[in-house]
Amino acid sequence: MDTESVDWALKTTRAVRRRLDLGRPVDDQIILDCIDVAEQAPTGGNQSSRRWIVVRDPEIKQELARLYQEAGGLFFTEARDQLEGTGHPREPMMRSAAHLVEHLAEVPVIVIPVIVGRHDGSGAPGLFDSVIQSAWSFCVALRARGLGSTWTTAVLAKAPELKELLGIPDGVTEIAMLPVAWTKGTDFRPAPRSPAREITFFDGYGRICESGPGTALRMADGPGMVVEVDIAAHPDVVWAAITDINLPAQFSDEFNGADWDEGFDGPALGATFTGRNHLEALGHWEVTSFVDVLEPNGAFGWCTSDPDNPGARWRFEIQPLVGGGTRLLFRLFLGPGPSGLTMFIEQNPDKEHGMIVNRLQHHRVNMQRVVDGIRDHLQ
Ligand SMILES: Cc1cc2nc3c(=O)[nH]c(=O)nc-3n(C[C@H](O)[C@H](O)[C@H](O)COP(=O)(O)O)c2cc1C
Repeated sequence: MDTESVDWALKTTRAVRRRLDLGRPVDDQIILDCIDVAEQAPTGGNQSSRRWIVVRDPEIKQELARLYQEAGGLFFTEARDQLEGTGHPREPMMRSAAHLVEHLAEVPVIVIPVIVGRHDGSGAPGLFDSVIQSAWSFCVALRARGLGSTWTTAVLAKAPELKELLGIPDGVTEIAMLPVAWTKGTDFRPAPRSPAREITFFDGYGRICESGPGTALRMADGPGMVVEVDIAAHPDVVWAAITDINLPAQFSDEFNGADWDEGFDGPALGATFTGRNHLEALGHWEVTSFVDVLEPNGAFGWCTSDPDNPGARWRFEIQPLVGGGTRLLFRLFLGPGPSGLTMFIEQNPDKEHGMIVNRLQHHRVNMQRVVDGIRDHLQ
């Protein structure tokens, strides 16, 4: 198999809106070929329940465009007008989404994948879980042939009208609306996405590893833990809370507080603070931390003991949520330098994996308490 081409198709199947070629007709056969590809996707019980509605009739497309406009289109056009010229990160997306709203009726073909059945929570196979992967294969198959689409769902808010317009029976569920056209050029690029290492958990939720992993955790691989919480507060507010080092400390069961060291005049790279800690096994101790990550409204992090060979690295990360609010992540990497944990590991090297797992589990509970505490404090 030509891995590079397959990966490239998967990585560059973008939401295409402004680069849909509205003037070039799309042959039915190419749509059918892509549906044949898509039908190879897995389906619960190996049962064929997917159906594909291909709309080419200009009057029906006009009606679909009207429904799309009513269902969500106004949101996109208003957002576009509000963000125009602001440099907001969502400005290009909204400009593109609004363009589709205004030109949907001119798109040569609109494909609506549906599935026989209703999503009733029964757990029976054959519903959404049997159609999304197939509809996505359809989009990738289009891309491989020089066509493009955008996964849209806004129109589903008008399901009764959609059913009436297309004669879709009650027991059949609409999944998406895919405008299809040849693309203007084919030089689409991969989009910025979270790197796998940040969102992949090995052998347990939240467990991350900088390198490796073998099945046994080693300090040398940079094992770590991440927890997260969604907060109904603006990123500015969350940023102020996480950079006020004493506020997170209030919610921790082993970190009794912290004081910025001499000369502190606001969080800055290289600034130091001394944390006061308590652990049953170790009693009270203090540790000096060095701010080593500072991206306003993005990330705030510090490392402990020695900036060149830290015992641990802690990071708060904040991400704005679509529709308002903020996602707060709290991430820890152990090592690579010495710490209380490495002292114990040196005494019992054969127990390294188990000790790391226990320590991470302890941290996880505490870290979750911290982010939940910040959320409850701010909401
Ligand atoms: C569940 C879902 C619903 C979406 N609904 C719409 C929509 O109604 N209108 C639209 O223009 N784009 C819609 N999109 C497309 C996203 O905006 C798009 O995937 C996102 O901006 C990222 O762009 P990319 O796919 O090119 O990386 C939807 C995507 C998904 C997965």
